[in-house]
Amino acid sequence: MSSTQVPLLDLKRQTAALKPELMTAIEQVIDDGRFVLGPAVEAFEAAAASYLGARHAVGVGSGTDALWLALRAVGVGPGDLVLTSPFTFFATASAARATGARIVFADIDPATFNLDPAKVRDVLDGRCPVAHRLGVEPERIKAIIPVHLFGQAADVTAFERISEEYCVPLIEDAAQAMGARLGDRAVGNSQHMVCFSFFPSKNLGAFGDGGLVTTNDDDHASRVRLLRAHGSPRKYHHELLGKNSRLDAIQAAILGVKLQHLDGWISARRDHAKIYTDALDARTECAPPSCAKGRLHCYHQYTVRVLGGRRDSLQRHLDAHKIGSAIYYPIPLHLQEALADHGFEPGDYPLSEQAAKEALSLPIFPELTPREQTHVIEAVHAFFE
Ligand SMILES: Cc1ncc(COP(=O)(O)O)c(C=O)c1O
Repeated sequence: MSSTQVPLLDLKRQTAALKPELMTAIEQVIDDGRFVLGPAVEAFEAAAASYLGARHAVGVGSGTDALWLALRAVGVGPGDLVLTSPFTFFATASAARATGARIVFADIDPATFNLDPAKVRDVLDGRCPVAHRLGVEPERIKAIIPVHLFGQAADVTAFERISEEYCVPLIEDAAQAMGARLGDRAVGNSQHMVCFSFFPSKNLGAFGDGGLVTTNDDDHASRVRLLRAHGSPRKYHHELLGKNSRLDAIQAAILGVKLQHLDGWISARRDHAKIYTDALDARTECAPPSCAKGRLHCYHQYTVRVLGGRRDSLQRHLDAHKIGSAIYYPIPLHLQEALADHGFEPGDYPLSEQAAKEALSLPIFPELTPREQTHVIEAVHAFFE
């Protein structure tokens, strides 16, 4: 067995390469002495807006808060329903639940793992048997959240049409998709609100929690700005019930440095993805991620489907070869205990349940070496031999 170890992700390599630049940026915040909002946050918001081609970018405390704030900005609250994908990180649904709304799901497109617009229409038109069983009243659906899972944009154009036709606001969960593109626009360049996370492991990661809401709409932007600071336009005057959720100035300075390297990192991720995809041919029973036409996948994760019920044994085999891998996500959200009061049952969203049994993410990060990647590929080939 080779002595090479391959981590799923190694942030230390990226940090080491940027340490002098990062330390200078952090020192500037310390010397400036403005730790909440102020020039560091403003500079990062401007840089992020320009990178994404968005009119507004509002720095907030986390990706979860970005979603909560966006939902509150369009008025979602108790008595409302929010429609999203069951195959995502729990925060997509928990942020919606935290507004007091209940969650409704529609199943995914198995090719991309993303929410399927046709299935969303079924729910809105009252044609979805699960929604029918649960007594969902489509007119109470007050937001739709497509998720750009693993770094591949969902079918935003189709969701924009749905949003317009049914008059339901769209809020994108782009926590995993900073740098992804749809045709000629970046994910984040939209009239509605798009929510990003800067959790350290993300393609653009802070040294702690952080998030961003982008939009081209002035009213959405000013509502999110109000809501992130206790709904207060002036000191001690509160127009809305918001929360304290601002992007930290030190995190903003760190993100400003890292943003300048993001395109290079995405390009390296895409090169690694191509090498995996070329190597994972029919012999392996691993279906590589498919990239929908016209999308630039930023490969936050390189997630294959392991066919033939062998996903868990492949993961054990990789473990034995000291290769990191991860199952995102082993339990779809409709089967999570925290949503047990919603009345979902196993079998309700079969494509998400199948994805939860088959998905396996392999090591991918910009600094992954050719030797490490070869070790992963050889181990996968050996498993299927
Ligand atoms: C799809 C998705 N949505 C929301 C979030 C929440 O982001 P955060 O961890 O910054 O709160 C995450 C991140 O972990 C995520 O992957």
